[in-house]
Amino acid sequence: MRAIDHINLIKLDSVYESVNSYYIILELFSGGNLRDYIWQNGLLNERKAANLIKNVLKGVSYLHNQNIMHRDIKPENILFRTSAISDETQVAIADLGLATFNSEQKYIFPRCGTPGYVAPEIAAVNNSNEHYELKCDLYSVGVTLFYVLTGRLPYPGKKDLMKENRECTLEFTKAENYCNFSEEGFFFFFFSSKIFFASKRLDFKINLPIREKNRCQGSIESQFFLQFK
Ligand SMILES: Nc1ncnc2c1ncn2[C@@H]1O[C@H](COP(=O)(O)OP(=O)(O)O)[C@@H](O)[C@H]1O
Ligand SMILES: [Mg+2]
Repeated sequence: MRAIDHINLIKLDSVYESVNSYYIILELFSGGNLRDYIWQNGLLNERKAANLIKNVLKGVSYLHNQNIMHRDIKPENILFRTSAISDETQVAIADLGLATFNSEQKYIFPRCGTPGYVAPEIAAVNNSNEHYELKCDLYSVGVTLFYVLTGRLPYPGKKDLMKENRECTLEFTKAENYCNFSEEGFFFFFFSSKIFFASKRLDFKINLPIREKNRCQGSIESQFFLQFK
């Protein structure tokens, strides 16, 4: 975590050690977290959501280029330096408690994350030798986007959440509050094909060879983001 240096990721200031504890000093985020922001201010419109998620993806891209997966991206772990949430310098991903190098032979906590946000391939892990890819984080970004636009998770909610999450049982048709989204809106172009399904999901490192120089651009320039440029 010491080596992480990107505007859209929380910065570690210093670490102190006592006989039985570690004290970790982090950069202070006075603007609170995204979950609380939505609770207090209501849902985001597409433009605000696109801006926010674009900045989150920049942080994810940086991590992935260091071969690190975060494994717990969700609104509660997205923090604001100030209340200016549209400003790209004010948004950062926090809580690297579950982050790991993708190349570890055995992951610590191979099945981890938050029900509803975790990628199905992580939720389905059965033993500690199983591996998944960096792009597990993009699923969580997708659910986060869905949440800030709709205030709900993208599952039907009839069965148990973890089962729906693991089986990637998605439900895009019910919520009345997203019927006004633009045609280029999230679930047609960005969500349904590019984020949720592991086989189609964008991968900053593997699936975007022509954008080798700036790997995050493939996702950031999807239709959903382009319309708000
Ligand atoms: N550096 C920080 N500045 C301001 N608030 C923070 C900071 N780190 C954490 N928080 C607050 O505490 C909450 C939990 O922190 P987090 O690092 O996600 O720990 P946990 O492992 O308990 O989820 C965050 O959602 C945020 O509201
Ligand atoms: Mg947290």
